[in-house]
Amino acid sequence: MSTTTHPSGLSTEQIAELRNLATKAAEQSYSPYSKFRVGAAVLLDDGQIFAGPNIENASYRLTICAENTAIAKAISEVGPKIRLRAVAVANLNGAASMPCGACRQILFEFGSVDTWVFGPGEDGPMDVTLGSLLPYGFHLERE
Ligand code: THU
Repeated sequence: MSTTTHPSGLSTEQIAELRNLATKAAEQSYSPYSKFRVGAAVLLDDGQIFAGPNIENASYRLTICAENTAIAKAISEVGPKIRLRAVAVANLNGAASMPCGACRQILFEFGSVDTWVFGPGEDGPMDVTLGSLLPYGFHLERE
């Protein structure tokens, strides 16, 4: 039996699983340039989870962040109407890595101010809402 203790409504086990899947995805990282191995796992509102790593490119600006890979996987499997309940980000470098600015906007496209973000912060594990990471985020009308 799992106990709900977190304001996200997720159990500590669910959060730990999401973090683990992000860490596992980081093992697939293609990051020969930065050597910064990142993974992200997105939890959809229907309970499905998709995870992926960062994928770098010799033309540096073409690098795909882990969050982007995970979302692309979710959309390709489930379709364009995915909604994000939560996302976990992890890296194998023992560093802080909350989603970059661009990723916050990409997450917001499929999430909301109430989407939870679990990542390594400067002082260890951090859990915050996307609304707190991206206040007044830009969006167009949703269907
Ligand atoms: N990276 C991510 O995958 N997600 C982020 O939110 C921040 C940065 C990747 C991009 C690049 O491959 C490496 O981390 C170093 O910036």
